Amino acid sequence: MIIDDRLNIFINSVHREFPEEITALEKKALEDGVPIIRKSTQNLLRFMLLMKKPAKILEVGTAVGFSAILMAGICEDCTIDTIEKYPPRIKEAKENFERYGLNSRIRLLEGDAADILRELDGSYDMIFMDAAKGQYIYYLEDIIRLLADGGVLISDNVLQEGDIIESKYAINRRDRTIHQRMREYLYAVNHDKRLESTVLVEGDGLTLSIKK
Ligand SMILES: C[S@@+](CC[C@H](N)C(=O)[O-])C[C@H]1O[C@@H](n2cnc3c(N)ncnc32)[C@H](O)[C@@H]1O
Repeated sequence: MIIDDRLNIFINSVHREFPEEITALEKKALEDGVPIIRKSTQNLLRFMLLMKKPAKILEVGTAVGFSAILMAGICEDCTIDTIEKYPPRIKEAKENFERYGLNSRIRLLEGDAADILRELDGSYDMIFMDAAKGQYIYYLEDIIRLLADGGVLISDNVLQEGDIIESKYAINRRDRTIHQRMREYLYAVNHDKRLESTVLVEGDGLTLSIKK
């Protein structure tokens, strides 16, 4: 948590509730230990979706389909392609899409995001990046190619619980690679001439980028 817990609880308490079917799915995912977007990120996504009104969304990192179902409920006319590689989560996401009647609007792309992104074409009005944090930097070229002009890229968990500001020597040896790669990613999205980006201290840190 980057911001104070009490402040976070307070902010969550003033945000408008999500529909019952969304909170039920959130509760089940959290009980099962599935890493899904936080409440404040749900709220930010809702705001961005209502503002941008994307027709086509790409999500990298489906898990059990929580954020895809949330997005589909907000943008009732949009279609979503979402990528997941972990078979048990693919199975559960498929069951959830079926249960929520979203099979015609959500397409689950099964496999490693690096391979799928390389092969994918078309253009997306919004891309939500929420998979392996150490891989974002390697996905970026394909993400920019797949983003429509004026399209929005939202990248989650970019501040690593605040550890991003620490020297690499203060980071556990096993986390140093991901720490270094996330710093490279933050530099890249903020300096790539095709994008205009901002970093938000929200949840675990998010970047918002627009393709110019
Ligand atoms: C944080 S979870 C996604 C949560 C989801 N967006 C939500 O809020 O409901 C990240 C997911 O990305 C998947 N993932 C990680 N690396 C991946 C890769 N290289 N290719 C495809 N999926 C990957 C993980 O299996 C995990 O389910």
